[in-house]
Amino acid sequence: MRLILLGPPGAGKGTQAQRIVEKHGIPQLSTGDMLRAAVTAGTDVGKRAKAVMDAGNLVSDEIVNAIVSERIDQPDCKDGFILDGYPRTLVQADAVEAMLATKGTKLDVVIEVQVDDAVLVDRISGRYTCANCGAGYHDRLHKPKVDGVCDKCGSTSFKRRADDNAETVATRLQDYYKKTSPLIGYYHAKGLLKSVDGMADMDEVTASIEAILAKV
Ligand code: AP5
Repeated sequence: MRLILLGPPGAGKGTQAQRIVEKHGIPQLSTGDMLRAAVTAGTDVGKRAKAVMDAGNLVSDEIVNAIVSERIDQPDCKDGFILDGYPRTLVQADAVEAMLATKGTKLDVVIEVQVDDAVLVDRISGRYTCANCGAGYHDRLHKPKVDGVCDKCGSTSFKRRADDNAETVATRLQDYYKKTSPLIGYYHAKGLLKSVDGMADMDEVTASIEAILAKV
């Protein structure tokens, strides 16, 4: 199964992608995570991407297409994957179609997570992740069962993203409407688009996504 999770920053793409990984055993390919890993590792890509990401702007199509192309060639992507945060421009959408065509495969479904702008800043500014396993939490909306201890791996170390602040979120939202939201019409025209209500409770969103995946 090859699917895309589409939606604005903070819509819950990463949260739902982790749940799909657990249930279906296919990898989550988050371009945001891959770029942050490159920044941490200090690679050439990371050095070029850091300032762009910190400002909330989009990294170039050229860089992002190259890292995705390399990643989907890995053996664990053979039976499918979840694209989380990619594609984000029409150029990237055409690129992923071309990448899959060379492998004789195609996308099965694109799931748009719909969320009102008003809640996005709150979701993003309260977000943090386990520094060890990457499990996602929120100061108010999704706390660990035991305060300060990761539910999944027991780590007591957590981190917050450098771009998770109100000013950067505004830039990221502008980019979303200008450059990414045209993908909704693009995938609708291809008959691949399904939408879920991302304002609902996390478990309800998961159930809506699973109902779509059951028909793929
Ligand atoms: P990226 O890492 O992709 O960030 P994003 O798309 O802005 O999305 P987020 O990760 O912020 O949000 P999410 O939808 O995953 O929400 P989450 O599940 O965490 O990109 C970062 C940067 O990298 C970009 O700005 C750009 O510079 C660069 N980049 C990445 N990909 C690129 C590309 N393809 N091209 C160019 N540049 C690229 O949820 C948010 C919070 O809400 C969490 O705390 C969660 O607990 C909570 N929550 C989730 N669902 C619910 C719910 N239903 N109810 C209540 N709370 C919820």
